[in-house]
Amino acid sequence: MNYNSPGHRPNPYNTQATYRQKRTSSITGALLCAILFLVVILVALIVIAARNKNPIDDVPDIPSVTDSTPASGEDLPALPPPADPIMTETYDPAFIGPPAPITEPDSVIVTVSNSDIHTGNLILINKDHPYVFPDEQPQTTLYGNKSPVYQLSTISISLNKSLFPIFDGMLVDFSKATGCNKVLVTSGYRSYDFQKDLYESRVKSQGEEKASLYVALPGNSEHHAGLAIDMVIFADGRQYYFPEYEDAAWIIENAPEYGFFLRYTEKAQEITGCAPEPWHYRYVGAPHARLITDMDRCFEEYHEYLRTFTWAEDRLLVLSDGTTETTDGFHLPDAGYMIYYVPSAEGDTTDIPVPPESQYEISGDNDAGFIVTVKLG
Ligand code: DAL
Ligand code: ZN
Repeated sequence: MNYNSPGHRPNPYNTQATYRQKRTSSITGALLCAILFLVVILVALIVIAARNKNPIDDVPDIPSVTDSTPASGEDLPALPPPADPIMTETYDPAFIGPPAPITEPDSVIVTVSNSDIHTGNLILINKDHPYVFPDEQPQTTLYGNKSPVYQLSTISISLNKSLFPIFDGMLVDFSKATGCNKVLVTSGYRSYDFQKDLYESRVKSQGEEKASLYVALPGNSEHHAGLAIDMVIFADGRQYYFPEYEDAAWIIENAPEYGFFLRYTEKAQEITGCAPEPWHYRYVGAPHARLITDMDRCFEEYHEYLRTFTWAEDRLLVLSDGTTETTDGFHLPDAGYMIYYVPSAEGDTTDIPVPPESQYEISGDNDAGFIVTVKLG
């Protein structure tokens, strides 16, 4: 039958074209199957290879900075995630790391000569620590320089130049506070020869044992340094020791504020080897005289105490109210004093650390090192 009638639509199922189409479809299917098969094989190989690998090889390579540094304006490449910790069983989530290292406080170094161990307001002078006489020792003669509110037993009395104004000021304040002008200064600086004469004449009159209780051997007296003063009250034609005279209670109480303390007490006799001397005051400066008095230690004991404080470890803090603490790191109070000991180094000099831009005083101990007193605030 001829169905090619005019106007009839052509048959879309042309048999030759249909055959070609079917053949193309079957080739494509075979290819897809082959690719799928290859992919499956490849995945299986990767999994097997991964299982056989040493775990440490899993640490991903971190791209080299030089290799991967992007040109300006490009995004940075994302770093691969960190590898799992290998020793997970020792991991403690509560452990936050080692403590921060302890750092020393800021300091500047002051270099001192080791011969300066024998100079300064805090030098210890006693039977075991003789005074080392310097070439020059500036003194101020009291006669002609002092205030008129106290008296001198002789015109030759002099004191270490640095403490004279402080001593004079104390007696001016005493006179203002009590109206008393009856302090009599009986001794200040003594030369070696002066002490020798004093000692020998005391031995003649009282014997050696008693003499040595009251007069230091020549070379071993604090008077050699001009840092010791003997004083009493002269009233009613006689001498009174301070504890015997009511107004003098002011000096006993306030002398430590001016840097003076009572050197030879009954309690200290076993250590000092000297009888109590209510007339002998020693200058050491602030805050040491107050500390020695309040702690009720003799000067020998105080030196031992100060040796326990060092720059690198504990330093002694003296607060404004006179109480003491040891340093706690770098939290220093705004006022008061900080004190520490620096043993002398081998050789000719010792490096002493002090806080930058601070006001400080360095004194030898006349033994083995230096005592540093820093004023805070
Ligand atoms: N009176 C004291 C001990 C001295 O002579 O230094
Ligand atoms: Zn004396």
